[in-house]
Amino acid sequence: MSDKKYDFGLVGLGVMGRNFILNVADNGFSAYGLDLSSEQVEALKTEGGDISKVDATTSTEEFVANLSTPRKIMLLVPAGKPVDIVIDSLLPFIEEGDLIIDGGNSFYTDTDRREAYLNEKGIHFLGVGVSGGAKGARRGPSIMPGGSQPSYKYIKPIFDAVAAKAHDGKPCVAYLGPKSAGNYVKMVHNGIEYGMMQLTSEIYDLLRKSAKFTNDELHQIFAKWNEGRLQSFLVQITSEIFMQEDNLAPGRIVDVILDKAKQKGTGKWTSQNAMDLGIPVPTIDIAVSMREISALKDERIEADKLYGRPEVEAIEKEKLVDLAEQALYFSFITAYAQGLAQLSDASKEYGYNLDLGLIAQIWRAGCIIRAGLLEDITIAFNNNKDLANLLLAPTFVNRVQEAVPAVREVVAFAAKNGIPVPGLSNSLTYFDAYTSSKLPLNLIQAQRDHFGSHTYERIDREGIFHTEWGA
Ligand code: 6PG
Repeated sequence: MSDKKYDFGLVGLGVMGRNFILNVADNGFSAYGLDLSSEQVEALKTEGGDISKVDATTSTEEFVANLSTPRKIMLLVPAGKPVDIVIDSLLPFIEEGDLIIDGGNSFYTDTDRREAYLNEKGIHFLGVGVSGGAKGARRGPSIMPGGSQPSYKYIKPIFDAVAAKAHDGKPCVAYLGPKSAGNYVKMVHNGIEYGMMQLTSEIYDLLRKSAKFTNDELHQIFAKWNEGRLQSFLVQITSEIFMQEDNLAPGRIVDVILDKAKQKGTGKWTSQNAMDLGIPVPTIDIAVSMREISALKDERIEADKLYGRPEVEAIEKEKLVDLAEQALYFSFITAYAQGLAQLSDASKEYGYNLDLGLIAQIWRAGCIIRAGLLEDITIAFNNNKDLANLLLAPTFVNRVQEAVPAVREVVAFAAKNGIPVPGLSNSLTYFDAYTSSKLPLNLIQAQRDHFGSHTYERIDREGIFHTEWGA
């Protein structure tokens, strides 16, 4: 054991962990890693090469002893039981005043439980969302910290240094709120991510099925979009995906990837919790359902044979690209609108005191849902801290309005031609319903009162009413 004490400790030296710790070291902080697998420890030592500020061990005791106090220990291990196991393995060695940071996609109630458990022992605890995948961890992720503010001061300098920097130089990290605020925000980030991925895949389907665009053309379309108002990480990687050659057979890899999407659960949690809160997020809901439908591959093949589908009409290529761009732009806005509305409600419900402008600001770089659009979303929420929904922001009204006719055309065309676009259609329906001063739910109230005497309110006078139906 050396005398040198390290500034930062990281448990879990998988690819994410190794990249994060190297990022910390690159930014001038010494960092010490722990993993029970000696292979991961060796991998870090190899990747760390001549970076003298990094070392690692397989011994928890040695790990803790090598950290300067108060210790700052970040966990990048799979969410769930492993987090509890690692915390309990650290407890015999760490001291009061030390800080544990969970950087995984932990469920927010687990974070609340762990904070209470550790605070009782005098240990600081933060639940922190980290987005950007392995590359983000190395070059600069977006970091969403939650927990007690006094605990945050210990790690702030390191997070400020390692986080992605937006074009104005601001780090994509900020203290977001107490308790599980960080994990909750990351969960909704992932829900929006699911929505945007679903929407992008529908546009791809539409382009390839109706106008028979080749992968080369699709690459060019998405690359061009990425230079305009759709500029985003997901549009950028989509353009790259179309060019990737298959390394096992001739052709492009995208054409041989099985159309069954997996999930680890964060999108589903977003939908489930939105239901609990009573907040509509239909674009996110359908993105989760589509991953589930995609998993029914064998049934889909059988049903395809039974039902067939309409012959897809030819459509002029240039026109379709223009309509598709508008539809994607519109639906990206509605996906952000729904996720941010959920955050606004959760903030009141769970006492997070979230600043939506700040959240949009730290999503501008490093994370999976980073996009040019977030610049204007940040401004919209900064201009009006009480903005109930992005669709009510004056800067968005004209743009949304201008795109709506194209979205209607795309959704109608897809429906007529049997191309499933549930994300686009749910986004449009969300918009149509949210902007309707009159919905037919008066009938539902009448039905409820008819069969169950559930009562209703009236539009012309105050009070609760019941009718003796058919009397
Ligand atoms: C990120 C991502 C990441 C997430 C993966 C996979 O922000 O870096 O959201 O945290 O785990 O995208 O998620 P699914 O397996 O659920 O698609």
